[in-house]
Order: sequence, then C-alpha cells, then structure tokens
Amino acid sequence: MLSQIKEIAENLAPRLIEIRRHLHSHPELSGQEYQTAAYAAGVMSSSGLHVQELVGKTGVVAELSGANLDLPALAIRTDMDALPITEGTGLEYASHKPGIMHACGHDVHTTIALGVAMVLAQLESTLAGTTRFLFQPAEETARGARWMIQDGVMQNVGAIFGLHVWPTIAAGSVGVRYGAMMAAADDLEITILGESGHGARPHEAIDAIWIASQVITTLQQAISRTHNPLRPMVLTIGQISGGRAPNVIADRVKLLGTVRSLHPETSKTLPDWIEKIVASVCHPHNAKYEMNYRRGTPTLMNDPGLTQIIERAATEAWGRDRVQLVHEPSLGAEDFSLYLDHAPGTMFRLGVGFPDRPNYPLHHPQFEVDESALITGVVTMAYAAWCYWQRVN
Ligand code: NI
Repeated sequence: MLSQIKEIAENLAPRLIEIRRHLHSHPELSGQEYQTAAYAAGVMSSSGLHVQELVGKTGVVAELSGANLDLPALAIRTDMDALPITEGTGLEYASHKPGIMHACGHDVHTTIALGVAMVLAQLESTLAGTTRFLFQPAEETARGARWMIQDGVMQNVGAIFGLHVWPTIAAGSVGVRYGAMMAAADDLEITILGESGHGARPHEAIDAIWIASQVITTLQQAISRTHNPLRPMVLTIGQISGGRAPNVIADRVKLLGTVRSLHPETSKTLPDWIEKIVASVCHPHNAKYEMNYRRGTPTLMNDPGLTQIIERAATEAWGRDRVQLVHEPSLGAEDFSLYLDHAPGTMFRLGVGFPDRPNYPLHHPQFEVDESALITGVVTMAYAAWCYWQRVN
C-alpha cells in the first residue's frame, strides 16, 4: 500500500505545487478565509468527497466515507489563515495582497490536506471508516478550532491527526513527539489601583506605578522560588500603561500579559497562584487590584498510540534517519489542542527547511518552504491514516 500511496502522490506533485502557489499568492486573514475555503471545497467536491461549507464560520468539512459508517471517524485537521505581514520573499508567486502573507505555512497545510484527500479518495474501498477533513479558519487568533467544535465537527470522531511545517527540520524529514508538544496559553490582565497625589508628597498617595513594578518583579522571582522548576512555565507582561504626568502619582496601572505552561496540573493552579502573589504585594501598601485571567488553549498533549502510528508510518516511508524524535516541546500555542478535549490525537512537525541555505523562522516576512515537503507531508499523513484504519479494523 505504501508504494501505491507514494505513486499516487508523486503523480499529484505538479497539481499540489500549483494549488500551494495559488493559495500562497491569495492569503486571507483569520476569520476571512472565504476564497481559500471556497477553493478547498471545490477541490474536495471534484475529488468526490461530501463537502459542507461555512462550518465554524469560514471553515469547510469534507468527508470520505469508509465501509463501516458506524465506526467513529478519523479527523484530519488543517488551518487556512494567513498573517498581517508584508511578504518579503520576492518569489514569483508571492502574496498578491499587500500586508497579508502565508508566513506560517498554512497554505502548505491546506494543500497537504487536499492532497491526502485526493490520495485516500483513490483508496476509498480499502478504508474501514469515515475520514473527515477539517479545514479550520482563524488558527492564528486561536478562535477557529472553537468555532469548528461548536458546529459539531468532533461528533463521533475516534481520533484526530494534524501537522505543522517546521523550518528547522530539513524538507524530507518529519518530527514526532510523545506527550506534551505545545503549551497552554492564557491571557492575563491585572489592574493595580492606588491613589493619586502630588509627585513631591508620595506619603500622601498610593503609587500604582511603584506597586506595579513590584508586582512584575515579584511574579518573576516567585516563578523561580515557589514553582516546580521541572514543570516549565513562562509569564510575560508584554504591555503596561498608567500615569498621566511626570509630577502626578499614578492611581491606576494596567498590566497585560501571556502565561504559558506545559503541565496540565500547573495550568490549573496558575490563576490562584498569580492572584496570591499580586494580593501579597498590594495589601501591605493599601493598594487594590483587579485581575482577569482568561483561559486560551490547553496544552497540546499527543496521544502515545496515535503518535506511534505516525512515527511508524513515517519510518516505513522515509527511513529511521528522516524521522526525528522532538526532544523539547515548545511554549508556543496551537489551537489543535482544543480538539483533543473531544478525541485523542497527535500532531507532527513537517520539515520544510532548505538543506543548503539559511531558513527564516515562522512568521518572518522572508519565510519560505522547500516545496518537496508537500509530497513528504501527503505521503506521511495519507499512509498514517491508512494504517490507522488497518489497526481499527
Ligand atoms: Ni501556524
């Protein structure tokens, strides 16, 4: 079966490059993926899949029915959105839209999902159950997965696969990781409430700027002293505002930040832990505070059994030395993790790096991919899906 999948994929290669370049030159921002979605839906319909549009606002669901409709489906998820970045690659198929660029490779993800569907459509009779392709909008704003789930795409799903391009892995190779792969990412908003006064008479006021600076310092110190160092977490205050004049003591300072953690139990305790520290700084100085902790995406935890399916499929397809075990997780976030509240799943990294020149990181205006990775991605995912159905059968 592997050689058959490789052969179908190789034959599709020119078409896949054409699709990818089309998507790359027509990027759309999060939640506005109308053309991309319509394009994907068109390709899926003409490949014989059952297509539903406008799922999760601008998403698409396409299904390939297997022999047994009672089996829970295998979902394969892709994201479709681009970033508010002006492309600087100078490629002939560079973005036609100033200020919008596929700098995170979601054009490649979408193309690969289409390729996998085209391959599996030719093997439909050998698949035990339904394979459901999820073309999700708005991954960059971490909203799309939620919209898709609200529209029921995870109903009767037994497992979910996903991938992300990775420029530090050479094209032709893939990276897999067992367990935690990406961090839980939450938003933090703290307002310190003091009392205004004359800059020359601080003892008559409550200086919210001074207290805010202590809150920040204490939080960073507390991470090292009261938090288990074997369970990574990062707290970044990225925005601070307050005060009105150089000689007026500020009565109000707002701190905005992001909180990342890997261990689900750490993640659970974070709001209370942070609030305790903020309170312990504010109270002795008679300051008040307001804190708003907003949960974002949970930790992306790869299922061991499904990760093994990907690892074995990739090893069989490309050889052991082209399958890397990813040793370090990332504290970046990915809303694929939200699907994992509904079914076990796994996400792997697809190498897209050029072997012979420097590679720019994701979200960089000069980010480029080695397009030979399209075939690596399609074959790895299609063969893993086929192996999944063999195992379930
Ligand atoms: Ni991305």
